[in-house]
Amino acid sequence: MTRDSRLSLAEASAVAERLYHIRARAFDLPSERDQNVLLESESGERFVLKLANPAERREVLEAECAVMLHLEPTGLTPRLIRTVEGSAIGRHGSRFVRLISVLPGTTLGTARLHTDALRRDLGRAVGRLGRALTSFDHPAFHRDFHWDLANAERVIGTYLPLVADTALAQRLAAFAAYHRAHVVPMLPQFRRGVIHGDANDYNVLIDEARQSVTGILDFGDMVYSHIVNDVAIAMAYVALSADDPLAAAAAVVAGHHETRPLTEPELEALFSLMCMRLCMSACVAAKQTAERPGDDYLRISQGPLARTLPILAAIHPRFAHYTFRDACGLPPVPHAPRVTAWLAEQSARFAPLIGRDLRTTPVAAIDLSAGGPLVSSEPSENTPAELDRRIQRQLAERGATIGAGGYDEARLIYAWPDEPTGTEPRTIHIGLDLSLAPGSPLHAPLDGVVHGFENAAAHHDYGPVIVLRHRTEGPDAVEFYSLYGHLSVDSLEGLRVGQPIAKGAVFARVGSAPSNGDWWTHVHVQLVTDLLDVPCNVDGVVRASQRRVWKSLCPDPNLILGIRMEELPRQVPTSAIAAARHAHVGDNVRVSYGAHPLNIVRGYQQYLYDDAAHRFIDAYNNVAHVGHCHPRVVRAVSDQLAVLNTNTRYLQVQLTEYAEQLTALLPASLSVCYFTASGSEANELALRLARTRTGARDVIVMDSAYHGHTTTLIDISPYKHAGPGGEGAPDWVHRSPLPDVYRAGGAHADPGSWFASRVGEVIGDLAAKGRRLSAYIAETCPSVGGQIMLPKGFLADVYARVRAAGGICIADEVQTGFGRLGTHFWAFEAHDVTPDIVVLGKPIANGYPMGAVITTRAIADSFDNGMEFFSTFGGSTAACVAGRMTLQVTLDEELQRHALLVGERLLSGLKPLMGEFEIVGDVRGSGLFLGVELVRDRHTLEPAPDEATFVVDRMRQRGVLVGTDGPYHNVIKIRGPMPLSLGDADQVVDTLARALRELPGPR
Ligand SMILES: Cc1ncc(COP(=O)(O)O)c(C=O)c1O
Repeated sequence: MTRDSRLSLAEASAVAERLYHIRARAFDLPSERDQNVLLESESGERFVLKLANPAERREVLEAECAVMLHLEPTGLTPRLIRTVEGSAIGRHGSRFVRLISVLPGTTLGTARLHTDALRRDLGRAVGRLGRALTSFDHPAFHRDFHWDLANAERVIGTYLPLVADTALAQRLAAFAAYHRAHVVPMLPQFRRGVIHGDANDYNVLIDEARQSVTGILDFGDMVYSHIVNDVAIAMAYVALSADDPLAAAAAVVAGHHETRPLTEPELEALFSLMCMRLCMSACVAAKQTAERPGDDYLRISQGPLARTLPILAAIHPRFAHYTFRDACGLPPVPHAPRVTAWLAEQSARFAPLIGRDLRTTPVAAIDLSAGGPLVSSEPSENTPAELDRRIQRQLAERGATIGAGGYDEARLIYAWPDEPTGTEPRTIHIGLDLSLAPGSPLHAPLDGVVHGFENAAAHHDYGPVIVLRHRTEGPDAVEFYSLYGHLSVDSLEGLRVGQPIAKGAVFARVGSAPSNGDWWTHVHVQLVTDLLDVPCNVDGVVRASQRRVWKSLCPDPNLILGIRMEELPRQVPTSAIAAARHAHVGDNVRVSYGAHPLNIVRGYQQYLYDDAAHRFIDAYNNVAHVGHCHPRVVRAVSDQLAVLNTNTRYLQVQLTEYAEQLTALLPASLSVCYFTASGSEANELALRLARTRTGARDVIVMDSAYHGHTTTLIDISPYKHAGPGGEGAPDWVHRSPLPDVYRAGGAHADPGSWFASRVGEVIGDLAAKGRRLSAYIAETCPSVGGQIMLPKGFLADVYARVRAAGGICIADEVQTGFGRLGTHFWAFEAHDVTPDIVVLGKPIANGYPMGAVITTRAIADSFDNGMEFFSTFGGSTAACVAGRMTLQVTLDEELQRHALLVGERLLSGLKPLMGEFEIVGDVRGSGLFLGVELVRDRHTLEPAPDEATFVVDRMRQRGVLVGTDGPYHNVIKIRGPMPLSLGDADQVVDTLARALRELPGPR
């Protein structure tokens, strides 16, 4: 429609009143061919007034009306409203007018969150619409229409010369050539019918919160065509907005197949069809830009197109076909089951690859998975020589000369330099590795011919590699391949493509570093059902998200090797671990991330790795204080465990030296240590010390506090006893308000003294009841309370009041000690107080079970009342060594200063989020103890726990682990090991901001 034929909004309102008796305000809607106007009636009803393009034939509009009436029962399409005279089509001068209802939802194109669940539902919706359309036809839709995907070739051919960008034009031509050669010949066998023809992301309405489709709009492109085109078009637009276009398209296919099964030729053609839709879009845009330079509507998809087309061009169409089959629950490679069945049937007849029968030769399992101890977390320790040494030791221990393993194994030894950052790394090894002596001869397991060979000499490639081609027997014989990598250089000498290799013949030898790709000494054996047109160097390591497809492309090589299953590394699927956990562990020992728990197999520095060898920034766990598995701590503890690990009943220098070092970092009065095996045990002991010292029993605690899991500690932990399953506080526990300045103290000029006087009131009440105070216990920065920073002056004021009432002041520094706040080594130092008892735990020994209570000589002496104190594991030799080394590393690596630096970087990224997102109510904390509080309303401070959980979940999906906390579970807590780097900090902030941007609903 040309600009000057468009109606003004006032004219549109007048048309609505005249034809439909609807008084409404009018708003412009973006549209291409028709003019669409949104009407909002006085009663709040919403409609779209559609003013047809003057060039539109009445017959076409009648057909559209008929289809809308036909599809109304699906609930997916708008209702057609008749004029006051009862016509489906009204007139305004020479223009045809229709009025339709507005469906609920927002357009897919404007949605912030696109999950695979939504994409799958889109596939379902398109399938439902298609099913309803099978019983519909109209002569007007039997037309030659330029947007009809069946005309893709012609449209692209016509407009390609108008594409100014030559690289883009070449790409479009390549897609079109593939389509012409491979898909066009198949088209005659495709099912045909009336299709919607334009399920683009602005014609699809969704419920963003539920991630489901609520409607499909716009019947202006309906046409009698191949019915598969509807899903192809939906896939094309979904791919445009996705990080992984193929996976996104596959989710649409999966949903569609559920409601309307696709045929095999349709599945095969889908990828090319969806690419053609995007190519058509690029070509038509080029044409329209040439006609109407400066028209923004036409450019909408050109940016994403430019990004997506190269990604799609890099995908082999057969790989896409296999991916779509997998999404439909079919074997990805159609002929793979035939190959594997034949191999299984023939297994007894294959010649042994190594010349000796692997069924009877002792083989040792070599586990190089992400969680396997043969691999070091430190890449420099995985040199070929180191790996060979470790593997040889394992073989010697098991009495074997051959090692085997690695098929479908997630490894972290691959850090491919060519991997684009931000994409999923390739970690899944899909060959089977046999560790053999260098030069060992390899015999062809079955007859074949040389299909390809090369010296893939790049570092960490295959080195010399040979691919043999084979053929199954029988009437439906198919070809398949076996690949052998990391061979000796002379294996390739004299070889020629097409050369027959007889079963049992020696055709290659095992290579060694550096000429074998610079790996440990082994041969990589891989079966391949489709080489995807790669002559030889097919991938041996692939992405975990494409695992099923690759396992069909590359079935288990043991089918031709015959190693006994029990001699291969054992893999326990995550689902089996979850089931066993449910069977044997109490369900309230909670696992994070609900339905998608993480199976963590390795930790190193500030990172954790899951069973797919994917890396996560651990911005959550403060126990691994100096970094997960810090080599100095690991070595010190394992060395000690190999010599002695016993209890405190003997004199041991490890304990005394540690006690001296720890107390040297504390105020002089805190000079006596007791060691325990946990923070809970330490808090229990602290309470006993206070009670023996004062002869009193009552305790004052903070609201929302948590001090441990034992019976007594649940009693003093409102977070537990006042929460689900809690039985409330016993009479000896007295609660004081949580000094949360953001939520409760903002109105007071001096929140510190205001909150302290609330504690004073509790002390007063207690005295009034004739009860005596034994202790005031508080975390110096309440953590489960929501990463709270106590107001200035509060603690000093409270301690003075408590002491005046005869009580002992206990500082629970289990979360905050050892430099975490950056500004001070202990959090209480920031408040100019000296507690009577300090309780330490969590980070104290970098994960080795440990807690400590440190107090004054006087309190310790009164505790020494005749009853022995003994904790079997508390203060054991190895625990003291772990604590000592953790402390030493903290000091040597200046981690307190580092935490301050990284904390400031985090805060400088997090604070601006309060300006960008209304939901970010507060950002607080110090060093690596930070909280981001989410609220639905900045005035009422209504907590946003669901949103916080959503954000935490999305961050995990992008490789960052954080948690939620606070009485309302709406505070995102960022802690993590102290070595968290500046780069990690930036990634945490970016990932958090990205997740906030994806939050459904008004911002
Ligand atoms: C402040 C505080 N105190 C004590 C404990 C109890 O420590 P543990 O779990 O080692 O028994 C915790 C544990 O989360 C804690 O956060």
